[in-house]
Order: sequence, then structure tokens, then C-alpha cells
Amino acid sequence: MDIDSCPIGGFIPERVMEILNIESEKYMVSMLLPIGYKAQEAHPKLRLAFNDVVEFID
Ligand SMILES: Cc1cc2nc3c(=O)[nH]c(=O)nc-3n(C[C@H](O)[C@H](O)[C@H](O)COP(=O)(O)O)c2cc1C
Repeated sequence: MDIDSCPIGGFIPERVMEILNIESEKYMVSMLLPIGYKAQEAHPKLRLAFNDVVEFID
């Protein structure tokens, strides 16, 4: 569908819950996940190889 997203953790939970009218007795917002169509092509990802950052310990 050519939709993009990215996680956002830097926000004020109480303010977001107020705007979205979420009941604080029942729920807590822990992450925002915007989705949409990109305005321009994304830059190439700069990621280390999986095996360079993950080590499995037996
Ligand atoms: C758990 C998590 C929380 C994040 N929170 C923020 C945020 O609050 N603000 C922000 O600018 N980017 C945040 N990011 C980074 C963006 O989601 C995104 O990865 C970044 O803008 C780089 O984009 P790219 O991965 O497409 O290169 C967060 C990433 C992760 C994994």
C-alpha cells in the first residue's frame, strides 16, 4: 500500500490522552505510531548488520 510509519516515544502522555479523550483509569499511552504517505523518498537506511549488534547467549 506504500504506507510508511515510524515510532514516536517523545511525547507527553497526559496531553495525548486528553486530546484523544482516553480514560486514564483504564489505559496509558506508551507509544505513538503515525502512518501516512511519504512526502519524499526516504534516505537510505544506515543500519549495522544484525550479527554485529545481536549476540545470543546459551
Ligand atoms: C522506540 C522509538 C521511539 C522513537 N521516538 C522518537 C521521537 O520521539 N522523536 C523522533 O523524532 N524520533 C523518534 N524515533 C525515531 C523515529 O521513529 C525514526 O526512526 C527516525 O526519525 C529515523 O527515521 P528512519 O528510521 O526512517 O531513518 C523513535 C524510534 C524508536 C525505535
